[in-house]
Formats: sequence, C-alpha cells, structure tokens
Amino acid sequence: MSGLDAMPRLGFGTYGRTGPAGEAAILHALDVGYRHLDTAQTYGTEGEVGRALKASRLPRDEVWVTTKVREENLAPGRLIPSLEESLRELGLDHVDLALIHWPARAGGPEPEAYLPDLADAQARGLARRIGVSNFTVALLDRAIAVLGRGAILTNQVELNPWFRNRRLSDACDERGILVTCYQPIAQGRLRDDPTLRRIGAAHGAPPERVALAWELAQGWAAIPTSGRAERIESNLAARELSLTAREIAEIDALDRGERSIDPDWGPAWD
Ligand SMILES: NC(=O)c1ccc[n+]([C@@H]2O[C@H](COP(=O)([O-])OP(=O)(O)OC[C@H]3O[C@@H](n4cnc5c(N)ncnc54)[C@H](OP(=O)(O)O)[C@@H]3O)[C@@H](O)[C@H]2O)c1
Repeated sequence: MSGLDAMPRLGFGTYGRTGPAGEAAILHALDVGYRHLDTAQTYGTEGEVGRALKASRLPRDEVWVTTKVREENLAPGRLIPSLEESLRELGLDHVDLALIHWPARAGGPEPEAYLPDLADAQARGLARRIGVSNFTVALLDRAIAVLGRGAILTNQVELNPWFRNRRLSDACDERGILVTCYQPIAQGRLRDDPTLRRIGAAHGAPPERVALAWELAQGWAAIPTSGRAERIESNLAARELSLTAREIAEIDALDRGERSIDPDWGPAWD
C-alpha cells in the first residue's frame, strides 16, 4: 500500500455534498488543489467522493481519503464489514484514515470492545491509519490504553475561533494526537466577527480564511466545506496566509465557548 505519508492539514469536508452538485464541488476541490477529502458512512457522500476522485484522474496515492464508522457499526462483528462496504462505495481498496465517528452512547458498546476491531481493520490494510472523533479526554485515554501510544493519528472535533475547545485540544497536543477541526469556520457564522474582519482586511482575506489560517498555525488540521467554487478556492488559500504572533493571540481571545454540535446522546464533554 502506498500513499501520502502525512495527512494534508487542509482538507475538504463533504457533509452535505450529495448528488451531482456535491460531486461537482468535490471534483472542483480536487481540481484547485485539495488533496484530502473527509467523508463518513452517515454522510451519504462516499459514492460522490469515489466518483470525483476517479473523474479527477489524480493518482490514488496523491489524495488522502478519510471515512468514519457510524455508531451502529460499533456493534460486535460489524465494523470490518462496514468498512469493506465503505470501500466498495468509494471504489477504493483502502482509505488513508478510518475514524470512529462518535463514541457509542450510554448502554452501547464500550471502546475496549470496538477499538480492537479498528486496529484489526488497519492490520488488514483497509485503512492506513486510524483515529477517533468526538472523543473526550477520558475516552482518549481509554483508547490509548487499548491501541497504544502513537496509534491514534487524530481526534476530529468541533473547533473554531468561537469554540476553542481548549481542554480537549490541549489534551490532544499533550498526547501527540493531531487535532482535526470540524466546523472550522463555524458554518459561516464568523462572517461578522470584527476582529477576524480587521485581521482579514490587513491580509486581503475574508474572515473565514483567517479562521482557517489560525487553525493551521496551531499545527491542527481543518476540513471546511462549501458548495460554491469561489469559496472552495478562498478557503484553500488559507495555506498561504501567514498570521503574526499578535494576530494569533488576538484570535485566541475570541473564544465564546459556543458549541454547535451537542446531541443529547453525545458524551459528557470536557
Ligand atoms: N466528526 C464529526 O462529527 C463532524 C461533525 C461536523 C462536520 N464534520 C466534518 O467537517 C466538515 C466541515 O464542517 P461543516 O460542514 O459542518 O461546517 P463548516 O465547514 O464550518 O461550514 C460550512 C458552511 O459554511 C459556508 N461557507 C464555506 N466557506 C465559506 C466562506 N469562505 N465564506 C462564507 N461561508 C462559507 C458553507 O456554505 P456554502 O456551501 O453556501 O458556501 C457551509 O454552509 C464537514 O463537511 C464534515 O466533513 C465532522
């Protein structure tokens, strides 16, 4: 199995990118330079990702593909067949990264029961790397106890300038687990933030690009999405936006603790 050694830090999210319009947006993302696509069994976009990849004619080993295992597939005996099904949808023989999308809700399987199956999927070559999403600090430590240090590439969590998720992101940094920021531009809500606007004006960039540049400057990954060509391109340009230490500190201070994704069945957050 060959592929990219490191996960490109700026990826393209595919939540909502369904159907022909979704496939066209994913293909546009690849055409303009994204080399990391984020999908999930629950998004209904594995087929779109696979078709866009094929249409792009890019070599398989130049694009990082992540998928996520849905909660129902954490039940005994289901994780590996579900990843095999994801690979059929994607038209691939492996993904670069397979994540547990959410820890099972109370009363469901424990991480000690399903994480060995994730390691097994990696050992079988279905996924080059493995990781988790929406795991709390306590769950991360249980995951490390099962999988060993260094096995968990990333914890994909909600994080943007208005939701710094500090305790969890610090814990990931301390444990050598890469933070991947989902909802990295707070679904477009950052538009009117005066600080992001002012910093953006100094760089000729919109506030969303400033937010993404701040995330990349912390060493994290970010996976914004858009259905619009000009925004897909504008977000990617965050890679070239270099913020000063003072600007980074100003953005650090914008945290409102404003969590957006908080299902009642989710874990007790840190
Ligand atoms: N692991 C998890 O539990 C989890 C949860 C949520 C999301 N995710 C992943 O993270 C990805 C990103 O999260 P998200 O899609 O919820 O939120 P997001 O990327 O923060 O925001 C996407 C929204 O912002 C708008 N937008 C995009 N670029 C913009 C720009 N430059 N200026 C203004 N508005 C802009 C888009 O609208 P237009 O399309 O109209 O541009 C879209 O409505 C998802 O696609 C998914 O892959 C993972």
